[in-house]
Amino acid sequence: MKESTARKLDFELPDLKAYWMPFTGNRLFKQNPRLIVRAKGMHCWTHDGKQLLDTIAGLWCCNAGHCHPKIVEAIQAQAETLDYATAFQLGHPKIFELANKLTAIAPDGFDYAFFVNSGSEAVDTALKMALAYHRIRGDGARTRMIGREKGYHGVGFGGISVGGISPNRKMFGAMLPGVDHLPHTHNLEHNAYSRGLPKWGVHLADELENIVALHDPSTIAAVIVEPIAGSAGVIIPPEGYLQRLRDICDKHGILLIFDEVICGFGRTGDNFAATRMGVTPDLITIAKGLTSGTVPMGAVLAKAQIYDTFMTGPEGAIEFFHGYTYSGHPLAAAAGCATLDVYKEEGLFERARSLEGYLEDGLHSLKGEPYVIDVRNFGLIGAVELEPIEGQPTKRAMALFGHCFDNGVIVRTTGDTVAFSPPLIIEKSHIDQIVESVRNALSAI
Ligand SMILES: Cc1ncc(COP(=O)(O)O)c(C=O)c1O
Repeated sequence: MKESTARKLDFELPDLKAYWMPFTGNRLFKQNPRLIVRAKGMHCWTHDGKQLLDTIAGLWCCNAGHCHPKIVEAIQAQAETLDYATAFQLGHPKIFELANKLTAIAPDGFDYAFFVNSGSEAVDTALKMALAYHRIRGDGARTRMIGREKGYHGVGFGGISVGGISPNRKMFGAMLPGVDHLPHTHNLEHNAYSRGLPKWGVHLADELENIVALHDPSTIAAVIVEPIAGSAGVIIPPEGYLQRLRDICDKHGILLIFDEVICGFGRTGDNFAATRMGVTPDLITIAKGLTSGTVPMGAVLAKAQIYDTFMTGPEGAIEFFHGYTYSGHPLAAAAGCATLDVYKEEGLFERARSLEGYLEDGLHSLKGEPYVIDVRNFGLIGAVELEPIEGQPTKRAMALFGHCFDNGVIVRTTGDTVAFSPPLIIEKSHIDQIVESVRNALSAI
């Protein structure tokens, strides 16, 4: 990237009043707006011409880097060929093509893809699939869902019910009934500075046995977890933990859902976390990297046994009363096909795996810098946790965010954790830049 950080763009700020921004302090933002007006590869540019290294792939989604020419071309070509076709009782070729490409890289046995428009919709869809699956099999008392503390599954009522982040839940009433939560696995006393999967904590999966015993297995439909939790500040599962959940679910006839909205598409150095970690759930929710963030799209990947269970009523009858106007939208389908081609042609999942150790070493070199209380990583995911300022949680991480931003690097903070999930096209020199920028910020803030 030759563009200098000082390059001025010819861009006039619009009136900022009318837009109610999501997950944002609207009033503060509008006093000090940061607008992104352009992006390419590893970088994006603000309205006042600042060049920024994107260390979080937009929001864990632009895995192929920004504005990849092949993906841009595919979207353009699709927009002038077929703008929209309803997904109900009609179809269009691209979405079938995408389902085929997607199931080809999914874990063995995941032969079906149901398309939606976001991670939140994917989660709600998977929960509904689980309920309906049991009911079709004559097991309709299985209505309970088990999520996990600190889990993030989007913002639909299903997702916040099984999710475990209290500010996302507390304003919104009773949510779904019959939901329980596993304990989270974040523990610095035992696992600080783990490289890869932490060694301590497999026993935390056994709490599922207690929850199952409390409610009785016959009432439980599904367990949903993120293999690696992102939004609560990068929580990497202890060794053996996910397999233990799988075993307990199998023992009691409970479906296991992996929410891979951030873990899918190379983020863990493999197609999915399920393939990297060798644990196979029953349903997988995906979004984000599916189109490299270019056009909104999500999906639920289902095992053949689940799909087949639905295909048992009278022929011609609708088997699943669910779907969205924009399920399988042609632009998203075209973007998805091109994205999966780019991942394959450029070997980006393998690239992520090959850079994992470099990112790990770089981030762990921050151990001992001021305020750092943990560094953790897996695949192309990293996190540096800071000691909070007493009585002012999040303030220190926000200060670090501001310092990095002013110095040309976008990082993401959740609580007092700084998270990294760069595009998979990242170079070693970018990793060096990330580490040095965080190091400088830590001594400056
Ligand atoms: C694990 C997980 N599930 C679901 C979602 C929700 O996705 P969306 O924001 O596309 O609705 C997210 C978003 O970050 C996520 O990280």
